[in-house]
Amino acid sequence: MEVRSEGIQVRCDKLPAPVIPRTRLRIWFIRVCSSIVLWTCFVQLVTVSELWHSHFFSGITNRIYHITQHPLHVKDAIVQAPPPLPPPRNYTSNGFLRVSCNGGLNQMRAAICDMVTVARFLNLTLVVPELDKTSFWADPSNFEDIFDVRHFINSLRDEVRIVKRVPKKFSRKYGYTMLQMPPVSWSNEKYYVEQILPLFGKHKVLHFNKTDTRLSNNGLPVDLQKLRCRVNYQALKFTPVIENLGHKLIRMLQEKGPFVALHLRYEMDMLAFSGCTNGCSEEEAEELKRMRYAFPWWREKEIVSQERRSQGLCPLTPEETSLILQALGFDRETQIYIAAGEIYGGDRRLAQLRSAFPRIVKKETLLARDELQQFQNHSSQMAALDFMVSVASNIFIPTYYGNMAKVVEGHRRYSGFKKTILLDRKKLVELLDMHRNGTLSWNEFVDAIRQAHEKRMGQPTRRMVIPDKPKEEDYFYANPHECLCEGTNCDDLLGPSNSTHV
Ligand SMILES: *[C@@H]1O[C@H](CO)[C@@H](O)[C@H](O)[C@H]1NC(C)=O
Ligand SMILES: *[C@@H]1O[C@H](CO)[C@@H](O)[C@H](O)[C@H]1NC(C)=O
Ligand SMILES: *[C@@H]1O[C@H](CO)[C@@H](O)[C@H](O)[C@H]1NC(C)=O
Ligand SMILES: *[C@@H]1O[C@H](CO)[C@@H](O)[C@H](O)[C@H]1NC(C)=O
Ligand SMILES: *[C@@H]1O[C@H](CO)[C@@H](O)[C@H](O)[C@H]1NC(C)=O
Ligand SMILES: *[C@@H]1O[C@H](CO)[C@@H](O)[C@H](O)[C@H]1NC(C)=O
Repeated sequence: MEVRSEGIQVRCDKLPAPVIPRTRLRIWFIRVCSSIVLWTCFVQLVTVSELWHSHFFSGITNRIYHITQHPLHVKDAIVQAPPPLPPPRNYTSNGFLRVSCNGGLNQMRAAICDMVTVARFLNLTLVVPELDKTSFWADPSNFEDIFDVRHFINSLRDEVRIVKRVPKKFSRKYGYTMLQMPPVSWSNEKYYVEQILPLFGKHKVLHFNKTDTRLSNNGLPVDLQKLRCRVNYQALKFTPVIENLGHKLIRMLQEKGPFVALHLRYEMDMLAFSGCTNGCSEEEAEELKRMRYAFPWWREKEIVSQERRSQGLCPLTPEETSLILQALGFDRETQIYIAAGEIYGGDRRLAQLRSAFPRIVKKETLLARDELQQFQNHSSQMAALDFMVSVASNIFIPTYYGNMAKVVEGHRRYSGFKKTILLDRKKLVELLDMHRNGTLSWNEFVDAIRQAHEKRMGQPTRRMVIPDKPKEEDYFYANPHECLCEGTNCDDLLGPSNSTHV
């Protein structure tokens, strides 16, 4: 009998085995009841401490801005007991969908949500997605090394059947060749019905060999948008190993008070890819350029760093970040968790930030070496820890608006519009340069920076829609507004709607 602490749900499931003697049943019953009581107490405690923290922390930045608290249901994954398993949906499957995700953890996460939605819409059987092992990060982790695969399959069973592998009879060994293709990016449900579904007339298995941004941001039926959210916020849980260590990190931080999670995307791959060398030595700039040439799928090779930077396309440097945090009103007492891998240039590049904010920590300084050991060569598992801490932080600040920044931003909106400061990098580099050459005094600089970010704190809004320019409009997973607001008060919360929902 399984008595592992995997939540009340699982235990209830195992309960009705007919051969269990009465006394054992009674013990089970008592256990389940006490679990429920304990869980309830825990939930109360967490809620109280969260209220206290968020109240306390708002003091630091309410000079800049305060969010009006809206009567939203705060659906925080941490404070919710798992819901009972839904009954499986009964449908005739049109075939198997196999998918190979590409990119880093958060790009793949969004893609998994898209692919579940596609499989549901076309009445397919989804095979547990394969993760990218050849991306820059070269993480050999499989789906089940990062996500709780049983929870993923079970919690979605009222929508779509998910299996661990394609049945043997469809394998190559038996002479079966499956159709392999990348679906067209930013497509809506019509593409999948008209172009993809007919392929299942001939093929029982279809393999999508690329999955990034495969569903459009807008124009999908609301129930499909909601399913994307349900996968993202409920069905995708990290493995217990990751969850436990992530919660430990969060606890350690919260014990010392409220904290900012700074996604300091000043990492080697980012700089090589973007061509941003501001603040680097000549040797470093050379090294980054060599790396860019070494990666064939980074198409742009010749890049003028200054141009990039003035267009707002560079990640902020640690030095720039330090000034901006100070201008935003954070002081030496602020606890800052750096959610990132290795900072390019190491401690030397962090010196200025550290002297302005002595309470800087990261997972490597909070955890013992052997606790992180198991994650060492698994960048996606490391990224999962940073993801958890970033979602749980009191304020989240990304220095580059990439996939992690966007997906975490959306998750925080979903968790009750927690504050995310979305830095306007184009404006910032202009202000930074004007402050540096003496055009702007410190006070003018501070005023300008605060003013520029008043409306960029992750407050409730609708996604910006730009027809035919999906890359430029707001990303669905950064602001899934369909899932953040129910009923008639949506216009009050998000502003009037003029989108063209089908
Ligand atoms: C599923 O639906 C089909 C057709 O409606 C029905 O014949 C079958 O009994 C159902 N199966 C289950 C397990 O409910
Ligand atoms: C999917 O199955 C449902 C019944 O469960 C049916 O109404 C619908 O038309 C099917 N859709 C496709 C694309 O097969
Ligand atoms: C995906 O499949 C298509 C068609 O078979 C092929 O041309 C392409 O190279 C594949 N892409 C990847 C990333 O495997
Ligand atoms: C990680 O990989 C490096 C080199 O690929 C290897 O030397 C090291 O032992 C690995 N560490 C762990 C914890 O597996
Ligand atoms: C200061 O920098 C700004 C922005 O780069 C520039 O527009 C301005 O001309 C500079 N002023 C001086 C006095 O150098
Ligand atoms: C609504 O329409 C106005 C003006 O036509 C436009 O500026 C705004 O971006 C639109 N909003 C959305 C959410 O499409």
